[in-house]
Order: sequence, then structure tokens, then C-alpha cells
Amino acid sequence: MKEDIVHLHGNTSDLIIQTHPVVEILYWGDNISGVETNAIQAIKRAIPNGRLDVDTPMTISPEQGRGVFSSPGMEGHRQGLDWSPVFEFKTIQQNGNNLLITTEDQNAGLRLVCELNLDPKTDVLQLRHTLTNLKSETYQVDRLAVTLPLPERAEELMAFHGRWVREFQPHRLKVKHGGYQQENRRGRTSHEYFPGFMQGTSGFSEQQGEVWGFHLAWSGNHRLRTDVKTDGRRFVQAEALYFSGEMTLAEGESLSTPWVYAAYSAHGLNGMSHAFHQFIRQQIVHFPDNKPRPVHLNTWEGIYFDHNPEYIMQMASRAAELGVERFIIDDGWFKGRNNDLAALGDWYLDTKKYPNGLEPVVAHVRNLGMEFGIWVEPEMINPDSDLFRAHPDWLLAVEGYQQPTGRYQYVLDLQKPQVFDYLLKRLDSLLSSYDVAYVKWDMNREIVQPGHDGYAALDGQTKALYDLLDELRSRHPKVEFESCASGGGRIDFEILKRTHRFWTSDNNDALERQHIQRGMSYFFPPEVMGAHIGGRHCHCTRRSHSIGFRGLTALFGHMGVELDPVKESAEERAGFTRYIALHKQLRSLLHSGKVVRIDHHDPALQINGVIAQDQSSAVFLLSQLAMPTYTLSGCARFAGLDPNKNYRLKVLDHPASLRTGGVMKKLPQWLEEELTLSGAWLAKAGIALPVMDPESALLIRLDAV
Ligand code: DGJ
Repeated sequence: MKEDIVHLHGNTSDLIIQTHPVVEILYWGDNISGVETNAIQAIKRAIPNGRLDVDTPMTISPEQGRGVFSSPGMEGHRQGLDWSPVFEFKTIQQNGNNLLITTEDQNAGLRLVCELNLDPKTDVLQLRHTLTNLKSETYQVDRLAVTLPLPERAEELMAFHGRWVREFQPHRLKVKHGGYQQENRRGRTSHEYFPGFMQGTSGFSEQQGEVWGFHLAWSGNHRLRTDVKTDGRRFVQAEALYFSGEMTLAEGESLSTPWVYAAYSAHGLNGMSHAFHQFIRQQIVHFPDNKPRPVHLNTWEGIYFDHNPEYIMQMASRAAELGVERFIIDDGWFKGRNNDLAALGDWYLDTKKYPNGLEPVVAHVRNLGMEFGIWVEPEMINPDSDLFRAHPDWLLAVEGYQQPTGRYQYVLDLQKPQVFDYLLKRLDSLLSSYDVAYVKWDMNREIVQPGHDGYAALDGQTKALYDLLDELRSRHPKVEFESCASGGGRIDFEILKRTHRFWTSDNNDALERQHIQRGMSYFFPPEVMGAHIGGRHCHCTRRSHSIGFRGLTALFGHMGVELDPVKESAEERAGFTRYIALHKQLRSLLHSGKVVRIDHHDPALQINGVIAQDQSSAVFLLSQLAMPTYTLSGCARFAGLDPNKNYRLKVLDHPASLRTGGVMKKLPQWLEEELTLSGAWLAKAGIALPVMDPESALLIRLDAV
């Protein structure tokens, strides 16, 4: 039988897909050459005894009707009929590495189109499926997933758990039999289950092993799973999760999955992150005028709801002295918002707090040379608000049922045109009335009853949110948006297409941030990761950290400060000034370079860095997270530099206690004098580590000479 094979070449990875007689991905991994028909014959599977008499292909949407007994690529029915479709190949259109493959089941009256692209520049594989109903009766879609096969050796999984103030906590599982499934039903991307994970060869690490990474770009509910079939084959599935009856297709109507982004790395997690980061930089996020990421001051932990314009202007003056470039007033500026019990929905300035309007504050901030930003939480409504009193029927709800409030608030039904128009009008007026450069868009509760006109409608709510943001952005293309949801509850590629930054976590404790930011760094580059220096005493853990540890931890993101600079001591302010200046000095490197996380034998020490794309310079942060396990911490070896170049090593910042604390009788030599070492030496032998106090960090810079 004639077989059609398409071979897509990336920079470091390849994908080989058979389109006829069935559409099946045959290979996705390291670059491979010598692919001829013979070679494809070499990987044709045997047919074992005791099973079906034919081979069962894992097609791009695996089908029960072909004998696949694992989770199918889609599930649905037409009043109980057409529930087991088998899709036959129809056409393929190829444009470079872009494929559009159409398959159909004429009996079931369904068409499935797969869009697939292996980005030749970054090696990110991008996929989505679209299902169309071809018959006159309505088709009920229960599930529609993107499925990707994995080789048998990918037997270890790394996924994330989390919660409010503790996002992106990695955990690992061996997947030898059965599988792993994560379901998010919280109505937003969630702190609990980031919609992505990695699978790889046993013991894969930052620098070693083969890794396949996946992300479902979606800000609503999702289901991700990885399975081991009883014949040893493995596959991953990613999909938006639909409630009963949520998805029905009339004749001619279509449903698309969210985009799935995936990347293969032959060199551990770092290779995968590099692919995702470059893809985000090139295809997902676009900063207006391409300007450097301005350093923020956000007022939340400084004053909470206590807004006094005179005082806020003092804060702004102090902020400018520190080197802050964008000043953001957080929650508390609108009518009746004195605590979190009331006023969400009433997006009018509180003239009791701001009797002279917001203009003087904005003008003051602008005169100081800073941009002005403002906080909103548009999707929400407090029962104690004028909006609720006027429109109690605007809630996202299921009629006839009580639903719990979350942070004393309900969710608005964005699919109601009146609601959408009201929010658009209020936000448009806010952005048109004042010189606003930045909006912190918050979302502080989970969604319990996503009902619209009686039907489940979380998918529609999520898409309406995208539409609202898209419309605002088209009206105000220079305004930047931050995606915040009680910290990191809405961090994903799809929301990032319409925002410019994430509020990573409400937890500004530097020790917790080291873990959270490392977790987030697997998928996201530093320039979209909001990282603020908080007060010495962290509001959410009650822990205290030196300004050095806080400053260096915030350095490797999009930096800001989150406190009241008026109340801070001169010593603390000198610290903020120092780390803000250091960030500005390094940010062009930090926000464009290659992120590397270093394998080190002692988990008490975390090493991460950023290397310029041309390998001319690098910065590395050595963070002592806990007491060193041994009396000496061995050598740090810095991978990713040019082995043939020599680098001058300079210490940019170190804990004061290093020289005065008496933990060492002698420091390693590179702390006493500048050394020049080759990239090969730095990668293979490295530099001997000093003994550092727990919760302290040291920053070095390497410049090619
Ligand atoms: C939750 C956010 O994560 C905080 O940064 C702050 O904006 C508050 N909401 C305000 O209510």
C-alpha cells in the first residue's frame, strides 16, 4: 500500500508524520537524516499474539474504532449515535513546516482538521485540532484532545502542583504502567495545576537526558494526561475540559482545541526551556515599541486599601529616587473600595479619597519621569456594589442555586452583551481619561457555577475574556497588561498573547520565590516574570531576609518593588537603589539571553544564570537555600559558555557575611582576585564554592576577553 511520509526539519529536532493510509506521527525527537522508505519500513511494528490481528495505529486522534483501547482523541455523540468515529485521510496542505491535514468520517458526519507546525527557528511544535459537524443534527462534543506519541524510554514525568502563594512546585513520577492525569476545574489556569509538564528519559535533569515538554495554552479548565499502553507505547493528551452539555455543534459549526506547544530537547530541561523562551520572544509576547522592561513600584503591600493622594505622591517621589520607572496604584482607588468586602464592579474613581481627581497623581508620576499604571479586576462583582444592586442578574451562575462567594465576590457573565459592553466602556474610559501605560488585570476567585442561559459555559467565558482584552488592546495598543490572579493563578501562553507580564506570586518571600521562579522558568523567560523586592519582613510568611537576598532573587525577572518607600529606612532604600541599578545594568542580557539552570549535587545550593545568545557574557546567581549539606559545597560548573573563549570572572554581589562572618578561614581565590578561565574549564572543572549562610546569594559575571 502506498504510504505518504512528511519529514519536518527543525534546528535541533525533527518530526516525521505518515499521512496515508492513516495519519500517525512516527518520529519526534533529535535531528535525524537518512529517512527513506526503507528506514520507515524498519520501524513497522510487529503484531503480537493474543491481541487484535492487525496493527493498531496511534493516529493523531486515536480511535476506538481502529482498536485503540486507550483514551481516544475525541468523544461525543449525536443523540447516542456517531459516537465512535474513524477518520480517513482526505487532504494535506504543506507550506514549509506548516501542515494542514484534513480527515473525515462520512458515516459519522465529522471532519477533523489538524494544524501542525514545527517552528524551524525555535523547534517548538505547535498543534491544534478542529472538529466540524457535517450533518444536520446537532453533535455533542464531550472531549476533543491533542494527542502526541512519546517513545517507550520517556518513563519519567515532571509536573507541577501548587496553591495560592506557592505556585509552580515541581514533582516527579515514574510512569511505567497506567498513567497520570491532572484535571483543573477551577475556572482559571490555576495555581494548583499549571497546564504543562515534561516527560523524559530516567533521571533527566537540567542539563542531561532527553526531555519532551508540553503546554496547553488555555486559561480555563483543562485535562492533561500521560499514558503507558500495555504494549509499552506512550502518549500524552492535552485538552480543554468541558462540562456536560457544554459543547454542541450545529451543522457546519466547528470547535478547535486550544493550541498545544511542545518542545523536544536532547540536553535536559535547559534545552526545552530555551525553545519555549525563544518561541515566546518571537511569537507570543510583543512589547509596545520594544522598550526595555521598566522597573515597577506597586503600592499593594505598601498601603493596601489606604489611598491618600498626597501620600501616594510622596511614595512616587521616593520611588523615582530609587530608580523606579513605572508606578502602579493597586486595589483601593475606586468608589467605595475600602476593604475587600465591597465595590468590585463600580469602576469609577472614589472621589472621597481622590477629591481632586486622579489627574494630580498621574501628572506627578509622569513629571517624575515614570509611567503610570493602575489595578483592575474586571471579571468580578461584589454583592455590596452599585453594579450588583442595579444588575443582580449579571452573574455567571446557574439559576435556582446559591453559589459560594470567593473573597466576598461573584463572577460576571462576560457572554452577556450588556456585561461585556459595560466593562469595555468603563475600561476604555479609564484608559482614555488618564495617561495609563499599564494595567494590572487581577482575577481573585475560582469559578463555581460557570452557567450562561442555563448551560455550562466556561469555554465561552474564557473566550469572552480574551475578546475583551483583544478589543481593549486594539483600542489602546501602547498600554501593557499584566495577568494576575491572586498572584500566579493565570499564567499560560494564551493569556500571554494579550498581556505582557505575569504577577508570579503574592508571595514575595525571597526563599519561596527562588522555588516559584525556578518552576516558572521552565516555560517562561525572565522578562515576563514579575519579581518584586518585598519588605524585610515578608507579609505572607513572616520570614525576614537581607536586602541582598531579596534584591538578587528579584533580579532575574521583570523587577519591581512592593512596599512603601516612604516608611523604609535609609539603609533599606540604599539597598533598593543598588539592586534596581544592578538590574538596569543587566536587564538587556537577562531579558534576551539563554536561561540555564545548573545541575549541582547539593540541593541546598541553587544555581541559575543567563548567557548572552552570542556567548559573549553571562551572569550566574548562586543561592544558598538551606544549610550546606557538607562542610564544603564542591565546585560550580557553568554549562553553556563557548568552550573556546576565555572569560573574566567578576563578583558583582555577595553576602556581607562572606568576608566578615567567620565561616571560612580562607576564601576561594576567585573571591580575592579576578580570574580568567576558559568556557571549557568553567563547564568541566568549574570554580570552588565558598561556604555561604543559608538564605543568602552571590552574583557573578563572566565576560569574554
Ligand atoms: C491579589 C493580587 O495578587 C495582589 O497583588 C493585589 O493586587 C490584590 N489582589 C489586590 O486586591
